[in-house]
Amino acid sequence: MPRGDQYGQESIPRGILRNRLPADKQFSVHGYHIFSAKGPGPMDDAIKKEALRLFTYGLYAITLGDDQQRNAFTANWVSQVSFDPPLLMLSIENDSVSLPIIRRTGLFAVNMYSADQRELAGQLGKSLAKHPGKLDNLSFGVGETGCPVLLECAASVECRVQGEMPAGDSTLLLAQVVGATVRRRDEPLTMLAAGFKHAG
Ligand SMILES: Cc1cc2nc3c(=O)[nH]c(=O)nc-3n(C[C@H](O)[C@H](O)[C@H](O)COP(=O)(O)O)c2cc1C
Repeated sequence: MPRGDQYGQESIPRGILRNRLPADKQFSVHGYHIFSAKGPGPMDDAIKKEALRLFTYGLYAITLGDDQQRNAFTANWVSQVSFDPPLLMLSIENDSVSLPIIRRTGLFAVNMYSADQRELAGQLGKSLAKHPGKLDNLSFGVGETGCPVLLECAASVECRVQGEMPAGDSTLLLAQVVGATVRRRDEPLTMLAAGFKHAG
């Protein structure tokens, strides 16, 4: 296989066809064929999307709230960012129902979906405002911080928010893991296996 094919259309399964791209978005550098989002013109949206969708993400149910109001939503923009203390980041849409509730309580939990929970991830991937029934038939427990957790999920970590910063259409929350529960040792659900898209 010529070296360039590692980055060429042949090795991109659902990629952009070489002949559909303008010449200024394609280059050969040291034998590597490159599809570039930038080039001399404005950034090519399709290539930017394709590149950003190559990040490998997990899928999680975020739970939040208290006795007054609780909610759960699916998120992939979640990552551990420090060992000591154990810190996580979560990026949350500014127009979500959940953000003001998290700001009020200062708490959320990350619940790990198992590989066979794609349907549940899809159900919770909708906004409560538009889909008021999305929490129906879910079993919530209360974690040691008082934050709701999802008993259906294989594991949960409870997090206390330490800070936030604006992130475009979303808000980046930095939070410390203050409680953890493992209920089942299942294989986790991934974005790739679920076939969902929430990046680009
Ligand atoms: C696969 C998938 C991944 C998602 N990832 C996030 C995410 O990381 N952050 C986020 O705020 N919303 C994410 N969403 C959207 C939320 O699940 C939800 O629709 C939105 O935040 C509003 O929820 P709420 O209004 O009930 O709080 C994702 C949706 C799907 C289907």
